[in-house]
Amino acid sequence: MNLGVLDPSPLLRRGLLEVSQHDSLRNAIEKAPISRGVVNRFVAGADNDAVTDVSEELASSGRMVTIDYLGEDTLDAEMATETKQQYLDLLEQLSARGLTADGRVEVSLKLSALGQALGHEGHDIALENAREICRAAANAGTTVTLDMEDHSTTDATLQSLRELRQDFPWVGAVVQAYLHRTESDCRDLAHEGSRVRLCKGAYAEPESVAYQDKSDVDKSYVRCLKVLMAGDGYPMVASHDPRLVEITGALADRTGRSADSFEYQMLLGIRPDEQKRLVADGSRVRVYTPYGDQWYGYLVRRMAERPANMAFFARSVLTTG
Ligand code: FDA
Repeated sequence: MNLGVLDPSPLLRRGLLEVSQHDSLRNAIEKAPISRGVVNRFVAGADNDAVTDVSEELASSGRMVTIDYLGEDTLDAEMATETKQQYLDLLEQLSARGLTADGRVEVSLKLSALGQALGHEGHDIALENAREICRAAANAGTTVTLDMEDHSTTDATLQSLRELRQDFPWVGAVVQAYLHRTESDCRDLAHEGSRVRLCKGAYAEPESVAYQDKSDVDKSYVRCLKVLMAGDGYPMVASHDPRLVEITGALADRTGRSADSFEYQMLLGIRPDEQKRLVADGSRVRVYTPYGDQWYGYLVRRMAERPANMAFFARSVLTTG
């Protein structure tokens, strides 16, 4: 018997991701000021000053940071330019505060926010915007990682990655263990100098392209992790899963990887004590730190992953003040 069919969590997850698309619900929830509890816990604030302060605090505790700007859905080239400018200003501010040296604080980009979905020209618009951000990151002494979005964008994003890496070989890739294709993508990406973030995947994907059962996703994660840890690249192990963190440590021992040849990555506000424990243990840890007014879609994905987050979120939105 396939017990996965009885598991309600994929349904809950898909339902939540779908319900969240309704405009009226979205508008009501977005009106909750950013200062409220849950938003504060998972999002660094609304502007560059706020995220720079949070990054400084994280860096002072020995953690590294990757910053994601949560902009509006990008509907035209002008909005894509605004998002690019936001990143350029941010990199300048981080650099002025001495936070970007040695890649301590870097940035994560969503190509959709830089114009990828804008018809025939979208690919080129996003690529040119990403290139400018990479140039600014290089000047600031840091790196850039390209987030991965839903499966319809995977090929285009990996193509942009290849093009950017011609000039900026340190640009990081993201792969999602829930996709059937990812073990093969990991083999292609596990070469020298290649920074690769492995995550489980956060979008509602059809079974034609993605594993649906949690246990199948976890098994795929381990297969992908083995490929990356045995390869010549720089694995970035993005998960809060205690079992996967443990397996990563065991694989590092087995493959003779030094502590500075890979890093753990976790989201802001999730398992902060574990982040600190890993740092105290001599491991490299980077905290994915989102900021900006448009936090709704990001938080819905976090809630879909963990009902406990949903209760916390509901309490924060319903309680005034
Ligand atoms: P999962 O959600 O299955 O949780 C496994 C276990 O971790 C839980 O059983 C629990 O023990 C522990 N845990 C999880 N959440 C917890 C919490 N709130 N408190 C305490 N324990 C908790 N996705 C994507 O599609 N594209 C992308 O580009 C990225 N980028 C990215 C960067 C980074 C740095 C991270 C950490 C994640 C992403 N993601 C992502 C999101 C990712 O795909 C995934 O949705 C989340 O990381 C949740 O998956 P976990 O691996 O944590 O496992």
